[in-house]
Amino acid sequence: MSKKRKVTIKAFRFNAETDYLPYYKNYEMEVSKDELVLDLLNRIKWEHDGSFSYRRSCRHGICGACAIKVNGKSVLACKENAMELLDLFNNELVFEPQSKKRAMKDMIIDKKDFWDKHAEVTPYVVADVDPHPEHETKQSIAEFDSILDADLCIQCGACHYACPALEVNPDYLGPAALNAAFRFTVDTRDNAGTERLELTSQPGVGVWDCVKCFECAEACPKEINPIEKITKLHNMQFEQGVARSNVATRHAEGFVRSIRKHGFLDEADIVVYSEGYLGMYKHLKTAVKMMKAGKIHWQDGVPFIDNMPKIKNLDEVQKLIDISMTNKL
Ligand code: SF4
Ligand code: SF4
Ligand code: FES
Repeated sequence: MSKKRKVTIKAFRFNAETDYLPYYKNYEMEVSKDELVLDLLNRIKWEHDGSFSYRRSCRHGICGACAIKVNGKSVLACKENAMELLDLFNNELVFEPQSKKRAMKDMIIDKKDFWDKHAEVTPYVVADVDPHPEHETKQSIAEFDSILDADLCIQCGACHYACPALEVNPDYLGPAALNAAFRFTVDTRDNAGTERLELTSQPGVGVWDCVKCFECAEACPKEINPIEKITKLHNMQFEQGVARSNVATRHAEGFVRSIRKHGFLDEADIVVYSEGYLGMYKHLKTAVKMMKAGKIHWQDGVPFIDNMPKIKNLDEVQKLIDISMTNKL
């Protein structure tokens, strides 16, 4: 049986200097079982069209340059086996840049927004360092472990360009920058943690704008799980007294309050708690839809009426909440 497979690769083509619109071009080739996506990118350039452009450098999954999308899935081209993707996508591969709207030339995008956000979180250890130290600054194994796996980020941008919150809110720092904020804030040699926590707690910019979709965790080729680091930043903001009372923090508190009271999430109460009675009117249309679907009752949200049932063993849930609670606002 032949170990090669004849395939057609559809590649996104665009030159921002000469093209008004992007287009797709097909390239036919025989792919063998050991070839990586990067090999196929090379073959498009070397065997079909020398003007085809993409970034690559290390070929070992450590420089982050070769990140693209294949059939909408974020991949590091030098890490992904082409045959496995052909199996996954029924023999059809579509190569696209990480972000089509930022395309400069074929797979190459303008990553300015990514680097600007990275720079915003002060992505380095801030410390008063003796210019002539007599010994190195040591860390214990446990201290070093606390920065792993966040430290493994190769700044490929896969999580950043997979994040739907960033698509709708360009001010949001995004998963890669927040991962970097976490990595340096937990570093025991660093002195700028409070500033980073202040920045990442700002509504519209920081952790509260994450919609917890887990796309970043799915996209990350280094299995860093940025959403986990975002959750830890949330906790650190409460623990270190940096979190301020706003819609987002009251929503988090209201969630706990509701579960503590009923063992269930009281959808109407959480809106009233976080946005107040006036704010509640903004959501009337949604409330009517939820009422029709039986998710809330007409009495929900009406002052002094508490018609939510309580679960059995509520005291056990309350104990769990007490154990897991961080500081209050
Ligand atoms: S979990 Fe949060 S940071 Fe990650 S992709 Fe979704 S919205 Fe973005
Ligand atoms: S967290 Fe993962 S996906 Fe995001 S930039 Fe770093 S290595 Fe890439
Ligand atoms: S070429 Fe460096 S990560 Fe792929």
